[in-house]
Amino acid sequence: MTGSSAAAVNGGTPVRDTAQNPWPKWPIYDETEERALLEVLHSGAWWSVEGTQGKQFEHEFATFQDAKFGVNCTNGTAALEICLRALGIGCGDEVIVPPYTFVATASAVLAVSATPIFVDIESDTLNIDPNLIEAAITPRTKAIILVHMAGRPADMDAIPAIARKHGLYLIEDAAQAVGAAWRGTRVGAIGDLGTFSFQASKNLNSGEGGIILSNDEGLADKAWSVANVGRVRSGRWYEHQVLGGNYRLTEFQSAILRAQMTRVPDQTERRADNAEYLRSLLEGVDSIQLMRKDDRITTHANHLFTFRYKKEAFGGIGYANFVKALAAEGVPATTGYVPLYKEHLFARFTLKEGSWCQNSRTPNYPALVLPECEAICQDLVWIHQTALLATHKDMDDIATAIAKLGSVLK
Ligand SMILES: Cc1ncc(COP(=O)(O)O)c(C=O)c1O
Repeated sequence: MTGSSAAAVNGGTPVRDTAQNPWPKWPIYDETEERALLEVLHSGAWWSVEGTQGKQFEHEFATFQDAKFGVNCTNGTAALEICLRALGIGCGDEVIVPPYTFVATASAVLAVSATPIFVDIESDTLNIDPNLIEAAITPRTKAIILVHMAGRPADMDAIPAIARKHGLYLIEDAAQAVGAAWRGTRVGAIGDLGTFSFQASKNLNSGEGGIILSNDEGLADKAWSVANVGRVRSGRWYEHQVLGGNYRLTEFQSAILRAQMTRVPDQTERRADNAEYLRSLLEGVDSIQLMRKDDRITTHANHLFTFRYKKEAFGGIGYANFVKALAAEGVPATTGYVPLYKEHLFARFTLKEGSWCQNSRTPNYPALVLPECEAICQDLVWIHQTALLATHKDMDDIATAIAKLGSVLK
């Protein structure tokens, strides 16, 4: 079919002309951020050792996320590595991780010479399946890293209970979950340690940046030491007690974060309202599958709005082409991750080409098949958080585009 009723990829008129009607720009800033940056500039205190911005942000963000302690660091990848080092995890140890996440969740484990053990996710939450964790625990297991994927809290009843039962540390990778809450408590310090990313796409953004949260002062101090070249908080300047690195944030980044923080409550609410409205439009649509509702989730951070498309309802069109067709209709849709264990990085370690610790088990990553993860890697559509800062009318366009493709691609 061609002409205005055809799919835009086939020459039809798109549902939305994004040149005329663009989606919200990101990042959002005004003179608040300008003033904050200039204040640091003029103060001359550009690094956190001298300035006050970093310390204030650590306190403000930790408080916001219901945590007692915060330790700033350069990014969410470093934050995970710092946590693992702070917990003394290394050669020969195993860490349970989900396979549907950004590479850092699992590569951080390799970076400390430990072994990531992938456990499948639930395809209707995108989070690690608590029912599969115990079978993966061995005498070598030291920790679980869960991810609050897409901003949706993982099961914070079941997973902490498993960690406690087996004496394992629990790290929450909350890179996508600023503001997310489970049964009224914000995520990040429900486990032993939590990590956040403030990279450009995240709901709270300073270009790059990260933080580690904890309610355990001893663990927070250890993380601080690793992030501050092995110093101890009460020690001399040239006193280095553990192996660390310089993972400090600049004062410019902390100032931007403090200014951006003032926007987080409203933006979180707006995303939630639009996500709820979009859900209501899509709930009866047979050609797609929405994520499961869970009343225990107080706040979903909606870093991503996701749904699974059913190939057969769209004329058998493949995943990449479906997303291309949706994007051509003016919807800011993308495909998502591939199963992490399929990345060559992990295969290399299996083949022992890397400088991996020799005391470990060597899982055969390329032979691994985690079916729920593999299924969603063929059909999960992502709509990024910035689109959720638009209006209900804009959400109508997303639903209209899906309905249109359902009828024209049949
Ligand atoms: C789930 C998850 N973990 C870790 C990271 C790493 O964060 P960063 O990019 O700040 O290193 C990201 C984001 O990129 C992420 O989405």
